[in-house]
Amino acid sequence: MKKILVTGGCGFIGSNFIRLQLDAYPDVEIVNVDALTYAGNPENLADIDSDSRYRFEKGDIADPDFIEDLLATSNVDAVVNFAAESHVDRSILDSGPFVQTNIVGTQVMLDAARKVGVERYLQVSTDEVYGTLGKEGFFTEETPLAPNSPYSASKAAADMLVRSYFHTHKFPVIITRCSNNYGPYQFPEKLIPLFISNALNDQSLPVYGKGDNVRDWIHVMDHARGVDAALRKGVPGEVYNFGGHGELQNLELTKKLLDALDKPHSLIKYVEDRAGHDFRYAIDTAKAERELGWAPQVDFETGLRDTIDWYLGNPVWVERVKSGAYRDYYETQYGNRLGAEA
Ligand code: NAD
Ligand code: TYD
Repeated sequence: MKKILVTGGCGFIGSNFIRLQLDAYPDVEIVNVDALTYAGNPENLADIDSDSRYRFEKGDIADPDFIEDLLATSNVDAVVNFAAESHVDRSILDSGPFVQTNIVGTQVMLDAARKVGVERYLQVSTDEVYGTLGKEGFFTEETPLAPNSPYSASKAAADMLVRSYFHTHKFPVIITRCSNNYGPYQFPEKLIPLFISNALNDQSLPVYGKGDNVRDWIHVMDHARGVDAALRKGVPGEVYNFGGHGELQNLELTKKLLDALDKPHSLIKYVEDRAGHDFRYAIDTAKAERELGWAPQVDFETGLRDTIDWYLGNPVWVERVKSGAYRDYYETQYGNRLGAEA
């Protein structure tokens, strides 16, 4: 697997994945296609920009002419599709871009990749396609899909298309489904970087509802290693789940963050709950451990400390990504909830 087309490589997970590939495989070549939406930031890969094994192409995965042409001329062995609209709250405000990028974009990528006959097509999906858990139990690869948000519905629809290309066209696809990621380069609209950034500015931390929802946190490099293992060792047609064995209630996590930053718990502000808020996600990772030889390596306390240090060390990155379009979103999402402060 020498040459890989990565989509969404200027985003949070895609950029960490590309860096991992270039570090781990001296012979690998990466073509990164990214539309540079509000979440895509070429600065995430500034350190490898001049690497001769890396090429960036700005473009939309839902643009068939562009994608067909790129695949026809790039001679890649594999496609890894990270590109997506990825934030649940934005999908509640407007699901249109989610249908366009996550579903139509996946269909375009599948058709173009099938046309040139790549060795592997890997779809990066999410545990959120399984819906929500109660207090007990874990998602496995056999759990029926029951998405609850427009975001997870669009990811589940994409997964169904990917699955169908295996059954109908014998196209060598693999789907990975991962739990909540954290780590460097995450856009500060997701819980951990948003709360770090607010706390550093002594702004309120808007906890939805009672803060008793549970997420399973995994370090982004463990996810990147999982995608790499699935790409190289996975069996076509199969699904692999990844999780960090890092279940935490949102409120517990928020307090940990404040303690680590030496900020008072009085910054916590309980705000109106997210519509349709999934209660709990938790992953059974047995299949990936057994069949891919993968396991999460970063324990949450260490990973969180490193992540906080990264945000502390990169204030310019944070300020730049928080400027412009993101300010409009913050006002729409939190204006009524936080009042004048937002
Ligand atoms: P992100 O929002 O940080 O990055 C998405 C990237 O895709 C951005 O660089 C953006 O510019 C690009 N993009 C968006 N629309 C595009 C389009 N039409 N054409 C080309 N590029 C486009 O997202 P992320 O958190 O890095 O997530 C990456 C993938 O992993 C997504 O598919 C997401 O569903 C999945 N995932 C994320 C998590 C998580 O916790 N963040 C967990 C499991 C799965
Ligand atoms: P998020 O990072 O948006 O990821 P996801 O919705 O994909 O799990 O949210 C993680 C959890 O944190 C989720 O239960 C919603 C909650 N949350 C808040 O309480 N306040 C916030 O401002 C945000 C962004 C999330």
